[in-house]
Amino acid sequence: MEPEPISAENLPLSDRSIVLVGLMGVGKTTVGRRLASLLHLPFLDADHEIEEAAGCSVSEIFARFGESSFRDGERRVIARLLDGPRHILATGGGAFMDARTREAIKRRAVSVWLKADVGLLMERVGRKGTRPLLQTADPRGTMERLVTERYPVYAEADLTVESREGPHDRVVKAIVHALRDAGVLQKDET
Ligand code: S3P
Repeated sequence: MEPEPISAENLPLSDRSIVLVGLMGVGKTTVGRRLASLLHLPFLDADHEIEEAAGCSVSEIFARFGESSFRDGERRVIARLLDGPRHILATGGGAFMDARTREAIKRRAVSVWLKADVGLLMERVGRKGTRPLLQTADPRGTMERLVTERYPVYAEADLTVESREGPHDRVVKAIVHALRDAGVLQKDET
């Protein structure tokens, strides 16, 4: 008899990809890359994959086609990535706000919310003016609004890890601990 295929719902924790969610500037890409190298897993960055698929930058997609077109592409790209082999995935800040993307992440992966306060986020995004959503008269006010809108939804992630002032490696370690406590990683996996 054919073995039963693993359905999305019973995908074992140890086979699941690890998806980082959270606001712009929190360090999903840097932290994700380091986590991946520590766990010997491939690292993927959703924004980068969207740029590859579209052949232009996220800012250009927003400017030329608008945010809703970007969100459609983001949903499709993340669904495709989650269907692939186990990996660490850094998502753009808005990805987890999409109900279908959230559902796909819940079925296929373990989600980790990297949480930080507005001061730290603004300090970190201040260094690069590449975020289309922050091209407003009052970027800090925009970030505060995003915190209010998004934090209740990010809180649906499986795990939450605080990102504070200090080196990214501290956050990487905190994620590893949280993943071990949740049974996603075995003791010998790092
Ligand atoms: C966005 C965050 C960005 C990028 C796009 C929209 C958002 O990614 O996907 O500019 O809605 O918060 P980062 O969180 O990696 O900056």
